Amino acid sequence: MKIGIIGQGYVGLTISVFAGKHFQVVGFDNNARIVDQLNLGISHIEGVESLALKSLIASGSYIATNDGLDLSDVDIVVIAVPTPLTKNRQPDLEFIDAACKTIGENARNPLLVINESTSFPGTLRNYIKPAIEKYSKNLIEHLYAISPERVDPGRKDFNQKNTPRLYSGLTPEASRKTREFYSKFCDNLVEVSSPEVAEAAKLFENTFRQVNIALVNEFAQIAHSLGVSVYETLDAANTKPYGFMKFSPSAGVGGHCIPVDPTYLATVAEEHGAPATFIRRANEVNLEMSEYIVRRVAADNGGNLQGKNVLVVGVAYKPNVADVRETAAELVIEHLRSNGAVVSWHDDVVGNWKGESSAPLQGADIAVVVTKHDSVDEKKILASAPYVFDTTGKVKGAKGL
Ligand SMILES: NC(=O)c1ccc[n+]([C@@H]2O[C@H](COP(=O)([O-])OP(=O)(O)OC[C@H]3O[C@@H](n4cnc5c(N)ncnc54)[C@H](O)[C@@H]3O)[C@@H](O)[C@H]2O)c1
Repeated sequence: MKIGIIGQGYVGLTISVFAGKHFQVVGFDNNARIVDQLNLGISHIEGVESLALKSLIASGSYIATNDGLDLSDVDIVVIAVPTPLTKNRQPDLEFIDAACKTIGENARNPLLVINESTSFPGTLRNYIKPAIEKYSKNLIEHLYAISPERVDPGRKDFNQKNTPRLYSGLTPEASRKTREFYSKFCDNLVEVSSPEVAEAAKLFENTFRQVNIALVNEFAQIAHSLGVSVYETLDAANTKPYGFMKFSPSAGVGGHCIPVDPTYLATVAEEHGAPATFIRRANEVNLEMSEYIVRRVAADNGGNLQGKNVLVVGVAYKPNVADVRETAAELVIEHLRSNGAVVSWHDDVVGNWKGESSAPLQGADIAVVVTKHDSVDEKKILASAPYVFDTTGKVKGAKGL
């Protein structure tokens, strides 16, 4: 069987490498630079080893392409393109639409279309299927299914093989074929009764995280105002063996999923006349954390950051990855600058970001740790400035939440 995977980013390339061990994979991406790199066996995604890619290329099991014609004879096509928000923070299905166009215009035979991109319930049935049919000139009847991706980039203990995977087709045949495909490289497949349940479950998983992170971020502020250690309190609560799950406070949420997916759920809820106040407020609390942190740093430094050299340590949205999408560091830097601070940042995992390079971890008046990569030495962080504020809870001896 030949599998086309549209989008060769975090999700698409990860799937390509797992699927490539069992099928012939065509990795389609509209970014020519990524395609060229991939064909040289160079992975741009954490957790996908270049060596694994090279061996798939050598065995003829993988090619990358930006030519839609290469998808014309695939048996299954997986959609793994971004689903961001528009400037007005509305679901943006522009990339999904482009993927549907590629499929509709190029598929010569009936195939199974599986969506892995995160979106609101009804996307497969009411958006993807009609869009592919609209772009298809030969009126082919395809099969359609959803299997939302749950990959956590950089994570070692859970991967495609051992993370349970939800799926559902628009028809029983689509469900059966989807199961056959994933069962080659995933041990635990969970069929749900409709694509809408799978789509809703994915959004709810990430909303659960967003809301709990907001709750713990709000609690960090409460604990500080009461003069109680937030970390000790959370550890104490976490001794309860049931009914409690520990989340950690931070400068806010980042990445492509947690700050974005709940807004998909809130939007669709409101369109159907259901309340989404909790979800909306959680998003605000997380966004406000950067301002709160800058207020705390200013208060500890005579109430004024004017002209102070502030080094933000760690700008990736989470430890040990180079991903800066929606990173909380961006808002922290913005608030520091609007308070008159002269801001640079240190993050050798990220290297370059927004036209700036990682600065040395030394010589600042103030350091604010937003993300602590394992490779960054705690002692060096403490020595980088006379005042260090740590938002991660990992730098012992620093000021913190
Ligand atoms: N990254 C994660 O941890 C994660 C986890 C679960 C689900 N998801 C979801 O998976 C989807 C993909 O996310 P990602 O993190 O892999 O994104 P990504 O930005 O890493 O990769 C997307 C890739 O798609 C390509 N692309 C965009 N439009 C295209 C088009 N029309 N045709 C071909 N290629 C196109 C881009 O060039 C890019 O390489 C999103 O819906 C996301 O919410 C992501």
